[in-house]
Amino acid sequence: MLVLGIESSCDETGIALYHTERGLLAHHLHSQIAMHAEYGGVVPELASRDHIRRVLPLTERCLQDAGCQRSDIDAIAYTEGPGLAGALLVGASIANALGFALQKPVIPVHHLEGHLLSPLLADPAPAFPFVALLVSGGHSQLMAVRGVGQYELLGETVDDAAGEAFDKTAKLLGLGYPGGPALSRLADQGLTGRFTLPRPMLHSGDLDFSFSGLKTAVLTLVRQQDTLDPQTQADIALAFQEAIVEVLVKKSLAALKQTGMKQLVVAGGVGANRQLRQQLDLAAERRRLKVFYPPLAFCTDNGAMIAFAGAQRLRFANHDYAFSVKPRWDLS
Ligand code: KG4
Ligand code: ZN
Repeated sequence: MLVLGIESSCDETGIALYHTERGLLAHHLHSQIAMHAEYGGVVPELASRDHIRRVLPLTERCLQDAGCQRSDIDAIAYTEGPGLAGALLVGASIANALGFALQKPVIPVHHLEGHLLSPLLADPAPAFPFVALLVSGGHSQLMAVRGVGQYELLGETVDDAAGEAFDKTAKLLGLGYPGGPALSRLADQGLTGRFTLPRPMLHSGDLDFSFSGLKTAVLTLVRQQDTLDPQTQADIALAFQEAIVEVLVKKSLAALKQTGMKQLVVAGGVGANRQLRQQLDLAAERRRLKVFYPPLAFCTDNGAMIAFAGAQRLRFANHDYAFSVKPRWDLS
């Protein structure tokens, strides 16, 4: 079965073709980052309009790369939510129009399920069960994943998401949008030990996170500086990254201990963070645990994870082409 995946929940148009026997055949991504950068964040109306321009050309490119025709598509998966309503509606309406034209089933996919299952696109891939650390711009959650559709929420952020904290802190340091990758690069130049920031909820005894206080601590630190020279900026970036990484690593280990599981899967944009990966790998090696990451290209939003999640959910396909979107939607 050949599944076309359409991701349009935020500022990335991701299109992919996943074959249930042959694997991922093609994927293309158009990022709107440059378009939104001058506004310092995503402008929903601009995002929707750009998705409209990109979905079909990227689909044609995927078909060409895979050597397939439109008529070869067996099912179409699209992100139903959560995300920006207008942006989601673009993917949903094109997916259903294509499905209707080709008389093929359409599969609505939960964006976070796409992220959760994306490490299964890697080789070697983890086998169920595993604990998933899902850290993106909109979510920070720990989940016990026992199979497709069997997700138990173990803990989540009570305020900002990890990616959101990276982005807001980057803004405080005068870095562009999106700030996560830029802040991480800046932290590489930082000196350890000059500043120490709090580790929020590290000892809360549960698996929840809180990141908004950390951002406020950075603001206080920035205000205390006479001048924000490049080295000071880098040192603050490093202190912030160290704090957030320590919390994510310790809570992930606690989740593994609580569930008795031996495998951790890291998904979502913050999963691309190098220091997080290093610290997790180090901790896992000591404890004989295994950590899996999606290929870097599939850490942030992409069409491959939607095509793949859709392929796992073919039995839930919709054949009547009535569609909706769910801008707010809990996975479990
Ligand atoms: O999963 P994603 O692409 O989109 C959402 O569904 O939110 O995640 C985007 C988030 C942004 O907040 C971005 O700043 C963050 O992931 N991010 C990073 C890195 N790369 C992306 N944060 C820290 N370090 C990175 N290398
Ligand atoms: Zn995402």
